[in-house]
Amino acid sequence: MAALITTRALHKRFQMGRSVVNAVNGVDLQIERGSFWAIMGPSGSGKSTLLYLLGGLDRPTSGHIEVAGKSLEALDENALAVYRRSTVGFIFQSFNLIPSLTALENVAFPMRFAHTSRSERRARARELLERVGLGDRMNHRPTELSGGQQQRVAVARALVNDPELILADEPTGNLDSSSGYSIMQILAELHQGGRTVLVVTHDPRMQSFASETAFMLDGQVVDAETYARATTAFAATAGSEKVS
Ligand SMILES: Nc1ncnc2c1ncn2[C@@H]1O[C@H](COP(=O)(O)OP(=O)(O)OP(=O)(O)O)[C@@H](O)[C@H]1O
Ligand SMILES: [Mg+2]
Repeated sequence: MAALITTRALHKRFQMGRSVVNAVNGVDLQIERGSFWAIMGPSGSGKSTLLYLLGGLDRPTSGHIEVAGKSLEALDENALAVYRRSTVGFIFQSFNLIPSLTALENVAFPMRFAHTSRSERRARARELLERVGLGDRMNHRPTELSGGQQQRVAVARALVNDPELILADEPTGNLDSSSGYSIMQILAELHQGGRTVLVVTHDPRMQSFASETAFMLDGQVVDAETYARATTAFAATAGSEKVS
């Protein structure tokens, strides 16, 4: 299988006053087309920052990202916006729906630049809402939906332009266990349908759906053994602090 995403020596630094945070600190990744990655790591390890860079929501400080044969650093703002809209479907932990719009209008929203009529856009939005099991909630606004339902609207919205790449940043983080599981199943179906899926998650159940797992520590991707050693050492320290 060919790589959909390649990163080389990827860095993102944030200057905070006099101190510098190396949020992504030299990431070399090769993501095969059609794979399903779980990205795990402690808080602050750079998972969201990495996902934002891959999704074209932010630009690296240095390094190279290639997606579907395109170098993202070579794209100007307009081309990057087209990339975000046509290649990527992004799902956030906090849903990010527009409160004043109904479920149907939220899903149709990213199609406003497409050369399709309003009725076609609504038909497409309706079809996707049915697919995520919300056929009976099309005219509800976000505040009239449960968390799990809001996240399913957000998933439908991410799919509206039929993106090849799905990026999800802790999509189940704000959901109860069973709503979270239904989101995982939808992501698994998308993967089975040929999409490449990258999910930042703390939920070990997600790993059973994933074909690969990337472990992050301090802005770097590390192997499973290093990760296990570091996180076990951390847990042991935390435990002994509690005891003493
Ligand atoms: N816009 C920003 N400005 C300054 N520092 C930032 C910014 N965004 C992230 N950081 C810092 O970069 C590091 C990585 O942040 P990131 O949000 O990628 O972590 P994360 O792994 O997603 O954590 P969490 O699991 O808590 O969501 C953190 O130390 C964070 O404080
Ligand atoms: Mg995060």
